[in-house]
Amino acid sequence: MLLLIQNGTVINPGDHTEEKADVLVEDGKIKKIALQQKVKADRIINAEDCYVMPGFIDMHVHLRDPGQEDKETVETASLAAVHGGFTTIVAMPNTKPVVDNSDVVNYVHNKAKDVGLAHVLQTGAITRGQRGEELSNIEDMVEAGIPAISEDGKTVMNAQLYREAMTLAVKYDIPVLAHCEDANMVKGGIVNADKDMEKMGFAGISNSVEDVIAARDIMLAKDTGVALHLCHCSTKDSVRLVQLAKQEGIRVTAEVCPHHFILTSEDIPGNDANFKMNPPLRTKKDVEALKEGLKADIMDVIATDHAPHTLIEKGVGMKKAPFGIVGLETVAALTMTELVDKGYLTIMQMAEKMSYHPAKILGLDKGVVEEGKPADLVVFNPSKEYVIHPEEFYSKGRNTPFAGRKVKGMVMATVVDGRVVYEKG
Ligand code: DOR
Ligand code: ZN
Ligand code: ZN
Repeated sequence: MLLLIQNGTVINPGDHTEEKADVLVEDGKIKKIALQQKVKADRIINAEDCYVMPGFIDMHVHLRDPGQEDKETVETASLAAVHGGFTTIVAMPNTKPVVDNSDVVNYVHNKAKDVGLAHVLQTGAITRGQRGEELSNIEDMVEAGIPAISEDGKTVMNAQLYREAMTLAVKYDIPVLAHCEDANMVKGGIVNADKDMEKMGFAGISNSVEDVIAARDIMLAKDTGVALHLCHCSTKDSVRLVQLAKQEGIRVTAEVCPHHFILTSEDIPGNDANFKMNPPLRTKKDVEALKEGLKADIMDVIATDHAPHTLIEKGVGMKKAPFGIVGLETVAALTMTELVDKGYLTIMQMAEKMSYHPAKILGLDKGVVEEGKPADLVVFNPSKEYVIHPEEFYSKGRNTPFAGRKVKGMVMATVVDGRVVYEKG
């Protein structure tokens, strides 16, 4: 099977090249990148006016499978992923049951293989049942192929236990993906701690809830030498902390989600739980610091924290609804519209933050467009404009604060291991 992606502009973060070329794919691998290739291909994708980029890699997705299949399944998340241009997604372990042993890891990996769309990599929980009391069997899960450990959804509040987990992560050469939230400081908060939110009668979550744990985790990374990755950074001081840590040579990387680099608490239209997520929407100063941090490459990764919930669960108002919004099918366009088009990022940086850096952090042989490498690719049209309609999502989740928003940038095709797994229209 020969696939030819014609007339696109190839973006390769591997050597920072951006060039017009055809990409020929055979047997799941990139065979040749060159202008005007004359071959009899079995399938042709016209990439005129499009970028041909390394398939996006989302380091932060909630699959809800096993246990909460009314919210999402491995299948619907995989469909949403390829619709959004993702060729690899990394699943967080806060499912039911929690992913704290190899059986659950194997369940997710096998199901994803049966679905056969995107690569799905399941992370392992740090503590048994995410209860924060004793370590889960990390070695067992490493043997089953977890790319990282994480307690996402929660923080490991016991620093000594966390340090032991980090020491194991060093031994097995995997990163720790950290959800930074001091559990004792949350106190029923649901939105950012600011005056407007107080006026609306919503309890606040201060920046320090995140910052104290980010600082602690960076110190633990310094202590253990672990590769620490800070999930969903939302505060200006988290950017400063990451910058300082990097200057000191501590192995830290950090991610930002689209909602945190676009929206503030002022955008919350009232009692609409599609604007409720954890960490919460912050202030203009935080948003500006996150964007500048992305621009300056202090912040390495754009991830979604794709967190689907049902309409019913999200329909009960801010106070009672669960935290989380979906993101797989909107992040590329939002990044193009809000960061690339507005001059914060180059298209190369977008490819780095959505593919190359995640691959590096996770130790995957992906994130580049080079001959001989696996053909995980996305064909992305940066100038196609449209309005976000949640009804068009492949995800079961419709919970997005971006419904009705006009964006620019459309995924035209997604290729996984040389197979066209999504094509527009
Ligand atoms: O908004 C969030 N939703 N933040 C988290 O940390 C967890 C996630 C979820 O699982 O719903
Ligand atoms: Zn989290
Ligand atoms: Zn999460």
